[in-house]
Amino acid sequence: MAEVIVVRNQEEAGEIYGRAVADLIKAKPDAVLGLATGSSPLAAYQALAKIVKDESIDVSKVRGFALDEYIGLPLTHPQSYHATIHRTVVEPLGLNPANVHVPGDVLNGAPLEDGDKIKAAGPAYDAAIEAAGGIDVQILGIGTDGHVGFNEPGSSIASGTRIKTLVEQTRIDNARFFDNDINQVPTHCITQGIGTILKARHLVLLAFGEGKAEAIAETVEGGVSAFCPASALQLHPHATIIVDEAAASRLRHKDYYKYAYSHKPAWQGI
Ligand code: F6R
Repeated sequence: MAEVIVVRNQEEAGEIYGRAVADLIKAKPDAVLGLATGSSPLAAYQALAKIVKDESIDVSKVRGFALDEYIGLPLTHPQSYHATIHRTVVEPLGLNPANVHVPGDVLNGAPLEDGDKIKAAGPAYDAAIEAAGGIDVQILGIGTDGHVGFNEPGSSIASGTRIKTLVEQTRIDNARFFDNDINQVPTHCITQGIGTILKARHLVLLAFGEGKAEAIAETVEGGVSAFCPASALQLHPHATIIVDEAAASRLRHKDYYKYAYSHKPAWQGI
């Protein structure tokens, strides 16, 4: 079972992630971080950046692989995940931009019609992750429909990085980043597959707010099903799910998760 940690707010979640990743980088200076975009990981990146600065941690060798990217957005578009990862992670942490990769980088805004390029990009991305020695810690958000990365309901649990069609609810959810205009939200994306995500050595999923409560209950306490892609985390030997009270509100065993975490020996970390 994944470990479930119920926190007061995003800042507390961010500190838990920041501490774990800072300790990892101290022990392994060329650690490989799996990176997500969206609002859920922002406090975690800020917390990590603060620890890196306060403790003068050398991050020059740290490497990163983002989860996903829209198809057809130029890399320079402010909402491309390439631009977002650079703005929210690379710059605040002071990472070497050459060490951080986004699955759409090789596509460079190529349109949906460019099948040859798009077909080749997924397997090449998985091969690059493998060549880097695999991802040490993968941070994840979750969609209201249970997606992780952009693996929408029905995605194969064994999938590798590939093109996917976004469901309309995801485009509605993300319209807030595009002047609240769904027509500006691309219809397709390239995303690490669920199989790719499961290969990371540690998964840390963050979810906040009532809107995520149902997806979190399905993920943690429902059956493993491609219909709730995040439920695949149940198959992972080291998955940590950090949620606030609102996102935890539909968990039947919430009290047990709190009890287990508060009685956990400090040496276990997350
Ligand atoms: C982002 C990603 C998505 C988001 C999810 C939640 O790279 O892969 O799965 O994590 O849509 O988004 P937020 O955090 O904005 O609620």
